[in-house]
Amino acid sequence: MRTLAIVLGGVGAGGLVALLALGGSRTLAQTTQPAADSVRAPVLGDTASLKGPRQPIFFRHDIHAGQFKMQCQYCHYSVAVSAEPGIPSLQTCMGCHLAIAGTDSSAKNEIKKLRQAWNDRRPVEWVRVHTLARHAHFPHQRHIKALGPNACTTCHGDVTRMPQVFRVNNINNMGFCITCHLERKVSRDCSVCHY
Ligand code: HEC
Ligand code: HEC
Ligand code: HEC
Ligand code: HEC
Ligand code: HEC
Repeated sequence: MRTLAIVLGGVGAGGLVALLALGGSRTLAQTTQPAADSVRAPVLGDTASLKGPRQPIFFRHDIHAGQFKMQCQYCHYSVAVSAEPGIPSLQTCMGCHLAIAGTDSSAKNEIKKLRQAWNDRRPVEWVRVHTLARHAHFPHQRHIKALGPNACTTCHGDVTRMPQVFRVNNINNMGFCITCHLERKVSRDCSVCHY
């Protein structure tokens, strides 16, 4: 079970400070001032040319996971324990966005859409970027256990730099799976992946 405790500090030049304690095990400090060693997400003029499918709300990984260094597992909460990594509920977003309205007009517009969905109790219908055919099965937890919690890049590329998620590897090509299984001496029995 996850518990989410949020302490919102003063809003001002110093930035809004939100302290999130997650499951009692990890603490994540967020400010509107990015951490000194983080990369500032770019201001985007033209979003139409971005790779990957357009999402109903312009949620930016480069801002959340890049600039503000939020852990992947804060949102993809079941990636280490289940086949499915998990997609965050609106409640997870609103823990911050009840208070954070956005600075520039693009951010304000997109966060307005998010708050509208929350008020309407309507889940956001994110467009899936990676999907395997029904006959193939991919267990995230087995891979995270073997390859480590930061292995996401191996298959998904550097998501912390992506304003919009796109496919870096062709996961629908069986060769992508087999090449690594061969290198790492993992089973290549058909029935491991196809059932
Ligand atoms: C604040 C919450 C949040 C954080 C933190 C976060 N994500 Fe996400 N992620 C989402 C949401 C919401 C979506 C669905 C919308 C989209 O694709 O942008 C998503 C989608 C994705 C997808 C595409 C899923 C698909 O449909 O195939 C990948 C891959 C992904 N995230 C990887 C990561 C990685 C890797 C990290 C850490 C570096 C991370 N995410 C951090 C919320 C988050
Ligand atoms: C830990 C706090 C936190 C959480 C949780 C969080 N956000 Fe954010 N989000 C931020 C901050 C900080 C910004 C930057 C706001 C600014 O300065 O404009 C931001 C910006 C945004 C923006 C504006 C992006 C742009 O175009 O500039 C959107 C849209 C957004 N978040 C959606 C979401 C969604 C959807 C979720 C849940 C999946 C989520 N956020 C979860 C802190 C958070
Ligand atoms: C070995 C390759 C690999 C690694 C490592 C990996 N993924 Fe994935 N990911 C996939 C594949 C393949 C799919 C499509 C699965 C399917 O359709 O059943 C996927 C799908 C996803 C999705 C979409 C799920 C959905 O329900 O919409 C998210 C989110 C995601 N991965 C996040 C992550 C995160 C976060 C990490 C790191 C903690 C990670 N993945 C590590 C291969 C990988
Ligand atoms: C970067 C390397 C890598 C890639 C790419 C990769 N895997 Fe794996 N996979 C592993 C490792 C390592 C294990 C062993 C985990 C363990 O020992 O539990 C594993 C285990 C598995 C298992 C469990 C095997 C068992 O014996 O029960 C399945 C199923 C699986 N992978 C499917 C896939 C599929 C489907 C893809 C492609 C979409 C894929 N893998 C891509 C490294 C990879
Ligand atoms: C490590 C996981 C893995 C193993 C082992 C594996 N496959 Fe696959 N296979 C996949 C993935 C992933 C796909 C692509 C599914 C998709 O289209 O999304 C695939 C696709 C296929 C397809 C459809 C090809 C096509 O062009 O659409 C066939 C047929 C197939 N596999 C047969 C086999 C046979 C036979 C074996 C054993 C010799 C085997 N696979 C072993 C993961 C695996």
